Amino acid sequence: FTVISMAARRILLTGGAGYIGSHTYLALHDAGYRVTILDSFANARRSVINRLEMITGAPVHFIEADVRDSVALGNLFNETNFDAVVHFAALKAVGESVARPLDYFDVNVGGLTSLLRSMDSAGCRRLVFSSSATVYGVPDVTPTPESAEFRAMNPYGQTKITSEQVLDWVSASDPRWAIGILRYFNPAGAHASAMIGEDPRDIPNNLMPYIARVATGALEKVSVFGDDYETPDGTGVRDYIHVEDLARGHLLSLKKLFETDTGHTVNLGTGRGYSVLEVIDAYKRASNKDLPYEIVGRRAGDVPIYVAEASKAAEILGFETEKGMDEMCASSWAWINSPHSGDDA
Ligand code: NAD
Ligand code: WQD
Repeated sequence: FTVISMAARRILLTGGAGYIGSHTYLALHDAGYRVTILDSFANARRSVINRLEMITGAPVHFIEADVRDSVALGNLFNETNFDAVVHFAALKAVGESVARPLDYFDVNVGGLTSLLRSMDSAGCRRLVFSSSATVYGVPDVTPTPESAEFRAMNPYGQTKITSEQVLDWVSASDPRWAIGILRYFNPAGAHASAMIGEDPRDIPNNLMPYIARVATGALEKVSVFGDDYETPDGTGVRDYIHVEDLARGHLLSLKKLFETDTGHTVNLGTGRGYSVLEVIDAYKRASNKDLPYEIVGRRAGDVPIYVAEASKAAEILGFETEKGMDEMCASSWAWINSPHSGDDA
């Protein structure tokens, strides 16, 4: 009986055509949820929807809309009784957020409040929210626990801090809200099918997609941003988490919300850090390519070390990662070589 009622549950995924959202779509679909994707394609390719259909062999319920469009949201919530929302839709380029802060506050914070209003009117008050390790700024402690204080490093980070605070006040205002806040560390890798993955249109900002393009020969060499940090080899250390593990974290967060109707705020990471040079090395092995790199100056605003204290997610959600760095690199390499990455649609 429980299984049948679970299977009938309806979930709205905003930003579901994006990198993490598309992988989460597959995890939720596999678990038997009925999922609707809402995306504006501000940072996704339309063909993602077809590819999700090819992978699952089932039609995707999809609506093209901006999450700030309260009329579109109102109509959607009138048509469908959603049991919960997983909210990925946001802008995420740190450098761009410094140049265009208003766009970031508008989409990331305004988009959230618009969504919360529609949810409240419809009586749907379970939400999983994409937050980020960036809310910790330069943390005093690594591995960093959820209790570490908020420190904004840039407008993007501030939008995630403000969003979390909005969610805390909304939860406090009405006990019917149940909100899961997930602070992702560094998502990497791609789906095992090699049909979806991270697919930036321009030169990538992030390390793993940049390395991938050096491995294919599309870019000449990796610029390593600083080797004078207080880390074992002097380069920046991050907690990379396989995007399929991350997607499963959303499934567990939703499950917890349904079981308890109580919210949670947890880190999603592995608890293990890799330096830039270690990532280059791992990718070299996965791709069997030479990966030329050059040490250049530090990137403005970079943090020396981000590693998650991962025990709270294990305890509260039962979340443990299953895939390591080698699988992140191998799946990224399979994806970048797939005909589906970099398509124009
Ligand atoms: P992404 O850009 O691939 O996905 C975001 C999706 O939202 C895209 O499909 C985009 O088209 C859509 N979107 C953007 N603005 C929209 C709007 N106004 N209305 C409707 N749809 C809109 O990014 P991602 O890496 O999948 O990130 C998903 C979420 O996770 C974001 O909230 C991001 O801030 C957060 N996050 C990402 C990382 C990371 O490193 N990738 C780390 C921590 C947190
Ligand atoms: C990883 C490491 C760089 C590129 C960013 C956002 C963060 C989050 C995830 C959403 C660092 C180094 C990188 C390159 C390099 N997004 N590097 N050469 O900076 O940890 O996080 O994305 O919430 O908010 O800031 O990720 O992949 O850019 O960098 O040496 O060409 O690789 O200095 O040490 P980052 P990243």
